[in-house]
Amino acid sequence: MSVSGGSIAIIGAGSVGSAIAYSLLLRQVVADIILVDIDHDLCQAQVQDLSDATFLSNVRIRAGDFQDASKADIIIITAGAKQKPGDTRLDLIDRNLKILKSILRSLQPIRSNTILLIVANPVDILTLFAQRLSGLPKGQVLGSGTLLDSIRLKRIIAGKLKVADTSIHAFVIGEHGDSQCVAWSTATVHGTPLLKVLPLTETEKDEIATLTRKKAEAIIKVKGFTSYGVAAVTARICEAIIFDHRQVLPLSHWQEELDCCLSLPAVLGRDGIISSFPLHLNEAEQAFLEGSAKSLRKVIADYKE
Ligand code: 2OP
Repeated sequence: MSVSGGSIAIIGAGSVGSAIAYSLLLRQVVADIILVDIDHDLCQAQVQDLSDATFLSNVRIRAGDFQDASKADIIIITAGAKQKPGDTRLDLIDRNLKILKSILRSLQPIRSNTILLIVANPVDILTLFAQRLSGLPKGQVLGSGTLLDSIRLKRIIAGKLKVADTSIHAFVIGEHGDSQCVAWSTATVHGTPLLKVLPLTETEKDEIATLTRKKAEAIIKVKGFTSYGVAAVTARICEAIIFDHRQVLPLSHWQEELDCCLSLPAVLGRDGIISSFPLHLNEAEQAFLEGSAKSLRKVIADYKE
């Protein structure tokens, strides 16, 4: 992969931010990766460690400040408290919204064509507030959303079908969290409806959806956080932006009719979300999606700034 001349800034040098830097470095997405953290010692240590891997790729990794970050092609926000066992992602809203607001203030003025990519949780809520507070066009502010959940879902299906997960098109939609849902009726394997090649009962579908939804919780219970999956997904998103792939991915972005940000398929390119991509849901899935939107709107309405 030829490295682009661009630059990506990562705000937050913890387990997720450093794993994202490592993924971007190995994938050679851009020539310049800037790591920013209010803990300067941690940031420097992560940069020193990561710089020992740059022999694998002609990518520069450096510690920077918010002003450096504000000029990057993509700014990734990972900084925030992490879920503890038993926490939901929505439980993080008070702490992480405060951190997001402080970061956005420090980044101003943000370059007008920068893409702001939210990875911290609750990602759908933070994406909405980042759209409101950044001053950037809504399409330039997106969240990693349920792309990670969709990849988790496809791996489970791939295991059952004994085919590569890249041959499976299946979307988890809605909140990157407890109210997410699987759009089973739209899933296909190389153009064939999934349920024709894998006739799942309702119970089996629920079991797979639960395994997908609870995968992060199971990992967090043991290692305290997740990092590699979200890092790989973030690198994938950055590639689609930097190289203008115009790939259709389930990402958290503004939904006019649902009056919130949540994940549905969208076309992603250099200008961010180019457009939403139509997904024909059945009645039950549409009801699930509206339920997810309703729970997100309630969290936003109940949030006392
Ligand atoms: C994940 O799903 C915790 O949102 C993070 O891995």
